[in-house]
Amino acid sequence: MTFEDLSRQYDFCGRTVVITGGTGVLGGEIARALAGCRANVALLDRNLEPGRELLALMGVEAASRAALVPGDVLDAESLRHAAAAIVERFGRVDALVNAAGGNKAEATTGHDRSFFDLPSEAMRWVFDLNLLGTILPCQVFGRLMAERGEGVVLNISSMNALRPLTRVPAYSAAKAGVSNFTQWLAVHMAQEYSPRIRVNAIAPGFFLTNQNRYLLTDERSGGLTPRGQTILAHTPMARFGEPGDLVGAVTWLLSPASSFVTGIVVPIDGGFSAFSGV
Ligand SMILES: NC(=O)c1ccc[n+]([C@@H]2O[C@H](COP(=O)([O-])OP(=O)(O)OC[C@H]3O[C@@H](n4cnc5c(N)ncnc54)[C@H](OP(=O)(O)O)[C@@H]3O)[C@@H](O)[C@H]2O)c1
Repeated sequence: MTFEDLSRQYDFCGRTVVITGGTGVLGGEIARALAGCRANVALLDRNLEPGRELLALMGVEAASRAALVPGDVLDAESLRHAAAAIVERFGRVDALVNAAGGNKAEATTGHDRSFFDLPSEAMRWVFDLNLLGTILPCQVFGRLMAERGEGVVLNISSMNALRPLTRVPAYSAAKAGVSNFTQWLAVHMAQEYSPRIRVNAIAPGFFLTNQNRYLLTDERSGGLTPRGQTILAHTPMARFGEPGDLVGAVTWLLSPASSFVTGIVVPIDGGFSAFSGV
């Protein structure tokens, strides 16, 4: 292999990637990186406002290959509308990144909320957003891949899927479901449709974003909570991840460089999952 051969594998020119939660922190960074590698990117989200800022950050050339597409990952009909709009704009869908997901305070145990009192609606919200919100886009966009006999899906699991963290039972269970579903769909697509459809996931460690800031930092002092400190103490690289830390693994899993890789979940965690704590 030459350097040119390798570089070519990461040239996404002419390939269209749909990113659910594409205007969020991690999805947005993934979108920016892929547009920078010349992909067409469709940022599918229920709130497109933050997407305008993202497009401005991409620069005119990359932004010309990006589309903001309204869609709700829990509503199959809205996903079908989004898929039609994306195919009309770009011609086809080559890859799907499922980055919509998250946790909520009401589904988190704490001083004022025991496990026994967690409301079922809050837990259902978390299960639905993370698990069903991954499965439904795979049905809608996976169908297009099955018709063409080719495509790549990348799900976003979490460290919680490997070993559940304290306080977030619904989120941990939902992400374990995402990892399990990733393996299931990888086998199903390869056996039933085409071995050229691959399905993988990443399991990010700890990235300071809107969905976990309330758990990791103290709102008043801005310093780390005891939980935030414990996480850093258990991360051999002794820092939180930056969204850009995901980009290498994401582009690898979406590119032909990983053409014989399917059904895996790649930790991107500064060594958190390798460390026993001793
Ligand atoms: N941050 C971390 O440390 C970390 C670690 C491991 C895994 N993850 C996972 O990484 C993914 C991205 O997380 P993030 O930190 O980037 O969170 P984020 O900034 O909150 O991004 C998630 C995006 O999904 C959107 N969304 C929520 N519900 C939706 C729906 N029903 N339909 C369409 N879009 C919807 C959100 O919109 P709204 O803003 O309107 O809600 C938001 O734009 C999630 O799956 C998360 O669980 C994050």
